[in-house]
Amino acid sequence: MLNQIRQKALKQIEAESDLKNLEAVYRQYLGKKGELTLILRSLKQMSEKQRKQKGKLANQIKKEIKQALHEKQEKEIKQAKVSKEWIDVTAPGVLPPQGHLNPITLVQRQAEEIFQSMGFSILDGPEIETEYYNFDALNIPKNHPARDLWDTFWLKNLDLILRTHTSPMQARYMEKNSPPLRIIVPGRCFRHEATDASHDFQFYQVEGLMVGSDISVANFKGIIEEFLKRFFSSDVEMRLRPGYFPFVEPGFEIDIKRKGRDWLEIMGAGMVHPNVFSSVGYKSGKWQGFAFGVGMDRLAMLKYGIDDIRLFYGNDLRFLRQF
Ligand code: DAH
Repeated sequence: MLNQIRQKALKQIEAESDLKNLEAVYRQYLGKKGELTLILRSLKQMSEKQRKQKGKLANQIKKEIKQALHEKQEKEIKQAKVSKEWIDVTAPGVLPPQGHLNPITLVQRQAEEIFQSMGFSILDGPEIETEYYNFDALNIPKNHPARDLWDTFWLKNLDLILRTHTSPMQARYMEKNSPPLRIIVPGRCFRHEATDASHDFQFYQVEGLMVGSDISVANFKGIIEEFLKRFFSSDVEMRLRPGYFPFVEPGFEIDIKRKGRDWLEIMGAGMVHPNVFSSVGYKSGKWQGFAFGVGMDRLAMLKYGIDDIRLFYGNDLRFLRQF
């Protein structure tokens, strides 16, 4: 009889998940008129031997049922709390999305760091330029055929253009500063061109300028070689070919070669033309210097193995997330 009660009660408790019903189970067995309570009460009328035997078992069963009920109730209360919460604090966390720097920005920062460590100051210049600084001050007079080297965006009804290179900052800076000087000017440039995998109508350059009383091509080579070595973190072969830019004389084109690859042109450079010095008001014959202009897009494409310049400006997150 007692064992039957025990079995029945434990089964009921296990099957029940509603808290109210669990209370009813308590009453059914342990309430004032509960099945087990009645048995316990009837012990008084039994013989001493029977009382001892049954009493022990009945009390033990009472304990078991209470314990089982208690555990089940705790469990159900917890469950009810969790399902009521609108935040599941036990769910695994989600990392907040993190931005990535454009590879051009990475290249710019690295170039700045390297040149800064060699004593160069970093300057910004206007993207909207005057015709004077973009051309005339750089020994490219009006109607000179060399202007055709730069396909230019002209701003309607204004004497302004989108700068076609960062070189105008050479003139702007020298007008206001005397040698010795070392500067670099990273920035965006624009050309009125059809776009393809290696041309865009916007791109980034770093201009460099170093002027002093005895600056030579040897200084240029030393500085650029050091820059390239640190930028590509490997030994890079470099060669100078003659090239024409109106603001330098002599002018060069610089090719580089990395292990197992072909020669590749990466920048224009040269010794600052006397006409540029005189247009900024420097005394003739007193100063010498070198200047260079390197495409940051080109550097980024080489460094990261990117084969289409348009990817830099396409805002495709699949591309940008790789850097
Ligand atoms: N400004 C030239 C360009 O955009 C690049 C250049 C060539 C810059 C020679 C220089 C230089 O400073 O000396 O094509």
